[in-house]
Amino acid sequence: MKNEYMKATALAPSNIAFIKYWGKKNEDLRLPVNGSISMNLSNLLTTTTVEFDPDYKKDDVIFINDDLDHSVGEKRIITHLDRIRSRAQIKVKAKVVSKNNFPSGTGLSSSASGFAALTLAASRAAGLHLFEKELTILARLGSGSACRSIPDGFTEWLSGNSSETSYAISIYPPDYWDIVDIVAIVSDDKKEVSSTEGQKLADSSAFASLRFSKINNKIKFLKQYLRVKNFTKFGELVEAEALEMHAIMMTSIPSLLYIMPESLKIMHLVKKWMTEGYEVYFTLNTGQDIHLICQEKNRGKIYQLLSEISEVKQIIVNKPSKGARLLNEHLF
Ligand code: PMV
Repeated sequence: MKNEYMKATALAPSNIAFIKYWGKKNEDLRLPVNGSISMNLSNLLTTTTVEFDPDYKKDDVIFINDDLDHSVGEKRIITHLDRIRSRAQIKVKAKVVSKNNFPSGTGLSSSASGFAALTLAASRAAGLHLFEKELTILARLGSGSACRSIPDGFTEWLSGNSSETSYAISIYPPDYWDIVDIVAIVSDDKKEVSSTEGQKLADSSAFASLRFSKINNKIKFLKQYLRVKNFTKFGELVEAEALEMHAIMMTSIPSLLYIMPESLKIMHLVKKWMTEGYEVYFTLNTGQDIHLICQEKNRGKIYQLLSEISEVKQIIVNKPSKGARLLNEHLF
């Protein structure tokens, strides 16, 4: 018997972390060593339709406009469907169709938007009506950073010490602060080491314990700068935090080098633009693509400066965005 509720579609944004998640204290439950803070991005979006149907003989996962990203492979998606099926007490197989409006596996956190959209669409299609907190916990089990793409605007992932206490909340709505995240896409090449694999090495860095001993203080300061909207203090901390995470990556054993020459060139240019009076800060994750954070008043100038760089293939301007939501229109 088919029920209409067995099909649902969700849209979810990727997010950019101001305080990063790099290192887990529990691998299976994806419990992070530290809490993290991020902003949802209005123009880096995944749309996913999930349909459970007794006629399907096996789970089928289709990506439109993109190769299957090895870090968000089919197996990981099916494991996530199994989690949701077990919660809903159903055994029916599913068809999943997903579409990103940006390249995956290049450091733009497609696993965050991907698992947030999958969690919302699949749980609703399975007949579950979960509270936001439960959705963030479920999304976290798929991909850690995905939990921050469920609530609206500026979000905080509380590290917790159990699955139930490690969840994300909205700390400010999207219209709280009109800062802009301008993404420069420099290449479509996929990263060689997925973040799931890379994170396992975090503890091997000689600097890991130092980072983790100071991180709660950093979170406190970041939240204070957000609260008073001190853009300079905020930007300086965000940039230093990105470099600190990369310092941990680079000093892992074996070492991890995610920063590419094109990204480094833009990082140096950002420093130059600052001396010329355009206030802008960079941050980046596990890939060559780079995020520039500025205030609305400097958006046009930064866009123009970026578009003059030959290595920049595409520019995507993001504002703070709502989190994951259901759509009425399905992809199939
Ligand atoms: O959720 P994952 O396994 O894709 O980890 C992503 C971690 C970073 O993007 C590097 C940092 C972060 O907090 O988003």
